[in-house]
Amino acid sequence: MNQTEPKMSLFDRIGGTAGVNRFVGQFYTKVFADPTLRPYFEGVQLDKLQHMQSEFFSTALGGPSTYSGRTMQHAHQGLHIHPEQFQAFVGYLFETLQEHDLSEDERYAIIARINTSADDVFNTGIAPSE
Ligand code: HEM
Repeated sequence: MNQTEPKMSLFDRIGGTAGVNRFVGQFYTKVFADPTLRPYFEGVQLDKLQHMQSEFFSTALGGPSTYSGRTMQHAHQGLHIHPEQFQAFVGYLFETLQEHDLSEDERYAIIARINTSADDVFNTGIAPSE
Protein backbone atom coordinates (compact mmCIF):
# COMPACT_ATOMS: atom_id res chain seq x y z
CA MET A 1 0.00 0.00 0.00
CA ASN A 2 1.22 3.43 -0.78
CA GLN A 3 1.37 5.41 2.46
CA THR A 4 2.29 8.73 0.94
CA GLU A 5 -0.28 11.44 0.33
CA PRO A 6 -0.18 12.05 -3.41
CA LYS A 7 -2.01 15.37 -3.17
CA MET A 8 0.56 17.00 -0.89
CA SER A 9 3.19 19.11 -2.62
CA LEU A 10 6.79 18.97 -1.49
CA PHE A 11 6.14 22.43 -0.08
CA ASP A 12 3.40 21.02 2.16
CA ARG A 13 5.56 18.06 3.12
CA ILE A 14 8.39 20.27 4.36
CA GLY A 15 5.95 22.22 6.51
CA GLY A 16 4.77 25.11 4.36
CA THR A 17 6.23 28.59 4.73
CA ALA A 18 7.36 28.02 8.33
CA GLY A 19 9.01 24.74 7.34
CA VAL A 20 10.83 26.33 4.41
CA ASN A 21 12.05 29.22 6.57
CA ARG A 22 13.31 26.81 9.22
CA PHE A 23 14.95 24.70 6.54
CA VAL A 24 16.74 27.68 4.95
CA GLY A 25 17.97 28.89 8.35
CA GLN A 26 19.38 25.47 9.23
CA PHE A 27 20.90 25.13 5.78
CA TYR A 28 22.76 28.45 5.83
CA THR A 29 24.06 27.77 9.34
CA LYS A 30 25.90 24.82 7.81
CA VAL A 31 27.01 26.71 4.70
CA PHE A 32 28.41 29.65 6.70
CA ALA A 33 30.25 27.30 9.05
CA ASP A 34 32.20 25.84 6.11
CA PRO A 35 35.44 27.80 5.61
CA THR A 36 35.49 26.88 1.91
CA LEU A 37 32.02 28.43 1.35
CA ARG A 38 31.91 31.30 3.84
CA PRO A 39 34.15 33.64 1.79
CA TYR A 40 31.61 33.68 -1.05
CA PHE A 41 29.15 35.37 1.26
CA GLU A 42 31.41 38.15 2.54
CA GLY A 43 29.63 41.47 2.17
CA VAL A 44 26.32 39.83 1.24
CA GLN A 45 23.20 41.00 3.05
CA LEU A 46 22.35 37.74 4.76
CA ASP A 47 18.79 38.60 5.79
CA LYS A 48 17.92 39.40 2.23
CA LEU A 49 19.70 36.31 0.95
CA GLN A 50 17.77 34.02 3.29
CA HIS A 51 14.53 35.72 2.35
CA MET A 52 15.22 35.28 -1.37
CA GLN A 53 16.32 31.70 -0.83
CA SER A 54 13.10 30.93 1.08
CA GLU A 55 11.10 32.38 -1.79
CA PHE A 56 13.14 30.38 -4.26
CA PHE A 57 12.57 27.14 -2.36
CA SER A 58 8.86 27.78 -1.86
CA THR A 59 8.47 28.34 -5.58
CA ALA A 60 10.61 25.34 -6.54
CA LEU A 61 8.68 23.04 -4.20
CA GLY A 62 5.27 24.06 -5.48
CA GLY A 63 4.35 26.55 -2.77
CA PRO A 64 2.15 29.61 -3.23
CA SER A 65 4.87 32.26 -3.44
CA THR A 66 6.58 33.45 -6.59
CA TYR A 67 10.33 33.94 -6.58
CA SER A 68 11.03 37.64 -7.07
CA GLY A 69 14.84 37.62 -7.03
CA ARG A 70 17.46 37.68 -9.73
CA THR A 71 17.99 34.83 -12.15
CA MET A 72 20.41 32.17 -10.93
CA GLN A 73 22.79 33.19 -13.65
CA HIS A 74 22.73 36.84 -12.63
CA ALA A 75 22.94 36.18 -8.86
CA HIS A 76 26.03 33.97 -9.24
CA GLN A 77 27.76 35.90 -11.96
CA GLY A 78 31.47 36.30 -11.37
CA LEU A 79 31.46 34.23 -8.16
CA HIS A 80 33.65 31.56 -9.79
CA ILE A 81 31.87 28.68 -8.12
CA HIS A 82 33.75 25.43 -8.66
CA PRO A 83 32.27 21.93 -8.77
CA GLU A 84 33.73 21.14 -5.32
CA GLN A 85 31.91 24.09 -3.77
CA PHE A 86 28.71 23.25 -5.56
CA GLN A 87 29.04 19.67 -4.30
CA ALA A 88 29.54 20.86 -0.72
CA PHE A 89 26.56 23.24 -1.02
CA VAL A 90 24.28 20.44 -2.22
CA GLY A 91 25.73 18.14 0.46
CA TYR A 92 24.51 20.59 3.13
CA LEU A 93 21.14 20.74 1.44
CA PHE A 94 20.86 16.99 1.73
CA GLU A 95 22.14 16.97 5.30
CA THR A 96 19.50 19.56 6.24
CA LEU A 97 16.77 17.59 4.49
CA GLN A 98 17.73 14.60 6.64
CA GLU A 99 16.80 16.64 9.69
CA HIS A 100 13.26 16.95 8.35
CA ASP A 101 10.59 14.29 8.44
CA LEU A 102 10.61 13.36 4.77
CA SER A 103 10.93 10.10 2.90
CA GLU A 104 14.11 9.33 1.00
CA ASP A 105 12.17 9.75 -2.28
CA GLU A 106 10.99 13.19 -1.22
CA ARG A 107 14.52 14.25 -0.31
CA TYR A 108 15.82 13.20 -3.70
CA ALA A 109 12.89 14.89 -5.44
CA ILE A 110 13.73 18.16 -3.69
CA ILE A 111 17.43 17.90 -4.57
CA ALA A 112 16.48 17.13 -8.18
CA ARG A 113 14.40 20.31 -8.38
CA ILE A 114 17.18 22.44 -6.96
CA ASN A 115 19.75 20.82 -9.22
CA THR A 116 17.90 22.05 -12.27
CA SER A 117 19.54 25.41 -11.47
CA ALA A 118 23.04 23.93 -11.37
CA ASP A 119 23.99 24.91 -14.91
CA ASP A 120 23.00 28.50 -14.32
CA VAL A 121 25.04 28.68 -11.12
CA PHE A 122 28.10 27.30 -12.94
CA ASN A 123 27.91 28.93 -16.31
CA THR A 124 28.61 32.23 -14.68
CA GLY A 125 32.16 31.34 -13.69
CA ILE A 126 33.53 33.81 -16.16
CA ALA A 127 33.91 37.28 -14.71
CA PRO A 128 31.24 39.67 -15.98
CA SER A 129 32.52 41.87 -18.77
CA GLU A 130 33.27 45.30 -17.44
C1 HEM B 1 21.57 25.05 -7.14
C2 HEM B 1 22.26 25.69 -6.23
C3 HEM B 1 21.97 27.11 -5.79
C4 HEM B 1 20.78 27.77 -5.71
C5 HEM B 1 19.39 27.26 -6.03
C6 HEM B 1 21.07 29.12 -5.23
C7 HEM B 1 20.12 30.10 -5.00
C8 HEM B 1 20.40 31.41 -4.70
C9 HEM B 1 19.41 32.46 -4.55
C10 HEM B 1 17.90 32.26 -4.68
C11 HEM B 1 20.06 33.61 -4.31
C12 HEM B 1 19.42 35.01 -4.07
C13 HEM B 1 19.40 35.81 -5.37
C14 HEM B 1 18.92 37.23 -5.19
O1 HEM B 1 19.14 37.82 -4.11
O2 HEM B 1 18.35 37.80 -6.14
C15 HEM B 1 21.47 33.30 -4.27
C16 HEM B 1 22.48 34.20 -4.02
C17 HEM B 1 23.78 33.83 -3.75
N1 HEM B 1 24.34 32.57 -3.87
FE1 HEM B 1 23.41 30.93 -4.49
N2 HEM B 1 22.42 29.24 -5.03
C18 HEM B 1 23.00 28.04 -5.37
C19 HEM B 1 24.34 27.72 -5.27
C20 HEM B 1 25.30 28.53 -4.73
C21 HEM B 1 26.67 28.14 -4.42
C22 HEM B 1 27.25 26.75 -4.67
C23 HEM B 1 27.27 29.24 -3.87
C24 HEM B 1 28.68 29.42 -3.36
C25 HEM B 1 29.49 28.47 -3.05
C26 HEM B 1 26.30 30.32 -3.85
C27 HEM B 1 26.54 31.59 -3.43
C28 HEM B 1 25.65 32.63 -3.47
C29 HEM B 1 25.98 34.01 -3.09
C30 HEM B 1 27.32 34.51 -2.58
C31 HEM B 1 24.80 34.76 -3.26
C32 HEM B 1 24.62 36.27 -3.00
C33 HEM B 1 24.99 37.05 -4.23
C34 HEM B 1 24.77 38.55 -4.04
O3 HEM B 1 23.88 38.96 -3.29
O4 HEM B 1 25.52 39.30 -4.68
N3 HEM B 1 25.12 29.85 -4.38
N4 HEM B 1 21.65 31.95 -4.51
